[in-house]
Amino acid sequence: MTSSDNQIEEIKNRLDIVNVVSKYVKLKQAGKNYVGLCPFHNEKTPSFVVSPDIQRYKCFGCLESGDIFNFLQKIENIDFPEALEKLAKEAGVELKKQEGFSKYKVLEEINYKATRYYYNQLKESKKAMDYLKGRGFNKESIKNFGIGYAPKKPELKKYLLRTKDYSQRQLLDSGLFTLKDKGIKEKFYDRIMFPIRSTRGKVIGFTGRVLPGNDWGPKYMNTPDTPIYHKRENLFGQYESRQEIRKKDLAIICEGSTDVISAHQHGIKNIVAPLGTGLTKEQLEKLSKTTKNILFFFDSDEAGRNALIRGFKIASQLGLVPYAASPEPYKDIDELLQKEEKLMRKHITNKIEAFSFILSTYLENKNLNRLEDVQEVKNFIGSLIFPVRDKTLLNLYKSKSIKLSKLALFETDGEKPYKKGKKGHIQKVHVNMAYNEVYREYLRLLLLQDQIDKKFLVDKKYILPTTLQQLYLEILKNYRKGKEELYSILHETTEITETFEDIIFDLTTIPKQEEEIKEELEKLSKRLQSLYLKEQQKILSQKIAIAEEKRDTKNAEEYLKKLAKINKLLQEN
Ligand code: UTP
Ligand code: MN
Repeated sequence: MTSSDNQIEEIKNRLDIVNVVSKYVKLKQAGKNYVGLCPFHNEKTPSFVVSPDIQRYKCFGCLESGDIFNFLQKIENIDFPEALEKLAKEAGVELKKQEGFSKYKVLEEINYKATRYYYNQLKESKKAMDYLKGRGFNKESIKNFGIGYAPKKPELKKYLLRTKDYSQRQLLDSGLFTLKDKGIKEKFYDRIMFPIRSTRGKVIGFTGRVLPGNDWGPKYMNTPDTPIYHKRENLFGQYESRQEIRKKDLAIICEGSTDVISAHQHGIKNIVAPLGTGLTKEQLEKLSKTTKNILFFFDSDEAGRNALIRGFKIASQLGLVPYAASPEPYKDIDELLQKEEKLMRKHITNKIEAFSFILSTYLENKNLNRLEDVQEVKNFIGSLIFPVRDKTLLNLYKSKSIKLSKLALFETDGEKPYKKGKKGHIQKVHVNMAYNEVYREYLRLLLLQDQIDKKFLVDKKYILPTTLQQLYLEILKNYRKGKEELYSILHETTEITETFEDIIFDLTTIPKQEEEIKEELEKLSKRLQSLYLKEQQKILSQKIAIAEEKRDTKNAEEYLKKLAKINKLLQEN
């Protein structure tokens, strides 16, 4: 943790988000949270929620969310350093000199000069130039993207110090150098350097690809997180592609920076790529300010398919419209463009809605005559549908699921779906969603308690939906911790943080008394157990039928015994 992280924590500890926001928004208490009219978009009914539990806000209308720093930046239209200064003052925290405004300017300056240095070095290196030409990159691409070369014996430090006396701290903070025993050392050598630009067009970091023959380090090495570059928040091409994304009202997301450059060269300029990590919510949130339509176009391998599922879930949570395509039979967009440019254009024009794309690929290797597979498919569809915010899309996905899998999904044995709270504030009566709703409500009430009561923690196997189960596992591990701490632990794994966040922000309609919460929890834990048992019952009955059909008496008897046990448990429950 750097000293600036410490100071940020210190400020957060001293200030309460409810007070900070109250200066701008009239807030009313609602359950554990506070609600008000969103200051970031026009609305008549409040959908702006502030959670003191995790010290964050979120608007369910325009999806703006964040902590006190994000709030102040957005509402005052200032950048981070300025927000830091203001909040530090309010909290009575004295900032170290360096933390101020100028620090960021210096780092932008270093990155700008580094871009120039690497760019000039490229002109000097025939080997590097030949490599780029060999890959099919032309002069225009090199110029537009500011591509450069970090030589075998780079002299960036010397180059920088020639014009200004940068401190060692400043050089290190730029992320372009590392500290070795003998002092400061260049981080990138013998690599093609692709500048990463902020949405405002400033170079904030680099992604460097090794030249063939250089086997030092990974194929792609990026600037580490620095005060001006956070990999979770930035996409390669976000600046270069922003106009075209707006014009086409569509953003293509691919895997690599080289795919982005190659696409630009072929005239497809509404395209971005995450940098060396899975796509994050922060990246999509930023992109969503320009367009709601996202076309995922990842590599045609296992990793690419998983990235698509992850992207679909995040996009759905943000209320975006996800589409999907694959470069098959080629490995990635770069190759597809070089071999069959027309096919790429066809994929974009005929883009397929991502849910059908994912589900049909998934079903290819499933045998719906096998019970295990049926159960898996159901769980899979459940986990895909769960984060979908948009009602129209949700209905579309449900009907597609039934059509594609020919399964009647989530039928609940004629049971009434769970209804929320005594007042029935939000009555969810979609039979199909009931499956998830019970689990969600259970987690919601669990988190509603100031201190999670161990008594109500159920066996993890009772939480059937995958994402919720993952979240539940984390809660189990950390149930003694405060919610803000839990939030920061979860923050490492995006997907479940969002689910957690949603549940926390949903703490606006709650039973009044602590007693009532306990009663509800008691009922729900029983309910979860019986749902689990019923699921087992169903699976076993089907297994018995199959075993009998095959005259496999040994197994049939085994299953019957198990079934009897479950029936007994169910009666007791
Ligand atoms: P790929 O290996 O598919 O990249 O990784 P690519 O762009 O197709 O590579 P070449 O240059 O054509 O061979 C996709 C992305 O994953 C990240 C990079 O962001 C890359 O663009 N990556 C890959 C890393 O961060 N480190 C690595 O070692 C490899
Ligand atoms: Mn690739």
